[in-house]
This record gives sequence, C-alpha cells and structure tokens, in this order.
Amino acid sequence: MVARTKREGRTRLGTPANAPGVLVVHGPNLNLLGTREPKIYGRTTLEDIDRGLVELGRELSLKVETFQSNSEGMIVDRIQEARGRIHALIINPAAYTHTSIAIRDVVSAVEVPVIEVHLSNVYKREPFRHHSTIADVAEGRIMGFGADGYMLALRAAAKIISGRAEAGV
Ligand code: DQA
Repeated sequence: MVARTKREGRTRLGTPANAPGVLVVHGPNLNLLGTREPKIYGRTTLEDIDRGLVELGRELSLKVETFQSNSEGMIVDRIQEARGRIHALIINPAAYTHTSIAIRDVVSAVEVPVIEVHLSNVYKREPFRHHSTIADVAEGRIMGFGADGYMLALRAAAKIISGRAEAGV
C-alpha cells in the first residue's frame, strides 16, 4: 500500500493518485544485468534501471511498476494481472522474444500500447535473435541503446498516453 496525503490525492512520492500506470517487464537473465556479458549489456544493474524508471515516471506523472522473471508463465500471469489497470506496457522479453507465442498472445490481449525494448541491437547479433514474436503487435521497438532504451521507451509511452487522452481514446 502506498500512503497518500488526503489533501492532494498524491502518493507520498509525488505521483498523482490517478496517474496513468505503466508496467515494465524484464524477461529471463535480466536480473543478472551489471555482471552478465557487460560488453554486450553494459554495467548498469536491473535495480538501477528500475530506480531510474520510477524516478522518470514521477517526473512524467506516470505510476511505474517493474517486474522481472525468468519464467514465461510468471510473465504471462503478471501482464494478465495488470490488464485493464495499466495504460502502457514496456517489455524486454529477453530470450523469450525469439520463442514465446504465450508472451505474444498476452501482449496482444493487454490492449494497451506496447513498447519492445532490447539493450543490444539484436540485428548485429546471431540470426536467431533477429526474429521477435511481438514485433508486429508492438507500437514500437527500441534497441541498441543499452539501459537508456528503457528511459526512451518510458518517454515514448508518456507521449502516446497523453496523445490518446487528448484524443479521448
Ligand atoms: C536481449 C536480447 C536477447 O536476444 C537476449 O536473449 C537477452 C537480452 C537484449 O536486451 O538485448 O536476454 O533482449
């Protein structure tokens, strides 16, 4: 439970209580960021990424929730649970990007704009990484910018959400 001040209807950390929600999902092995193949994935830890996202969310008046799992089923469950509550989904499905129809199906079912993120530019890597099961159901894809890609994705999500609100969608 996040405490709210009665007068302002804001969370203690300053995000309006009715701010749009964005769920950020990290797939398998991303819990190892910082020490996992740093030449490819950089030295930033997942904890640092998540902290940066929550802070940027505060600036953009978005409620950011983050989730990491090594299990395909848990990722599906978490996105299902957020369905109807969130306004955008940012997801790096990691290795499941290339294999998971279950994640593609839940990404389609969530019915909010989805932004696919990869730390590395998968097209500079092995051919098996070139295929993404969610590429054609995502609003857009950001890759090759390391941890900054998540921040770019959150800014993109904020724009899409405010554009939809203005258009009354
Ligand atoms: C990744 C790329 C995937 O091919 C790989 O399996 C990952 C991370 C990336 O962020 O660059 O685990 O999604």
